[in-house]
Amino acid sequence: MTTNRTFTMLKPDSIEKGNIGAILEKINAAGFRIVAMKLTQMTENDAKAFYAVHNERPFFGELVEYMTRGPIVAAILEKSNAVDDFRALIGATNPEDAAEGTIRKLFAASISENAVHGSDSDENAAIEGAFHFSGREMF
Ligand code: TYD
Repeated sequence: MTTNRTFTMLKPDSIEKGNIGAILEKINAAGFRIVAMKLTQMTENDAKAFYAVHNERPFFGELVEYMTRGPIVAAILEKSNAVDDFRALIGATNPEDAAEGTIRKLFAASISENAVHGSDSDENAAIEGAFHFSGREMF
């Protein structure tokens, strides 16, 4: 079986609400292997760089403030079809539109505080994983 990787962040609201364990259980139950994981906090520059693609959007300032206000759990996950299967597991960007049982439906408060990140392509998964982890931190 060919496996590939995706990158995720459990965002500050997930840590604040004590949802790390419950979200990791869903990720584990869906068959993802943890390749790398840590608790870390993004600086303003980190968040601006990570979300640079959105820097012209009206929500950019709010997004940077939210993503830097407390620690996140950053992780690289491995599975067959990892990027698409993880996007399906987390659900739509807006939890109001997310399918029943998805992580965002269960744990996200709103479109702007939506509990988790999941890479949207294999290329971005590699870039985002390398943004947070050195080769020595991947197993
Ligand atoms: P996006 O890449 O469109 O969504 P996803 O995280 O599902 O790939 O947007 C990145 C983040 O920006 C999103 O998770 C939350 C935030 N965001 C808002 O706050 N408001 C919005 O209207 C959109 C589209 C995104």
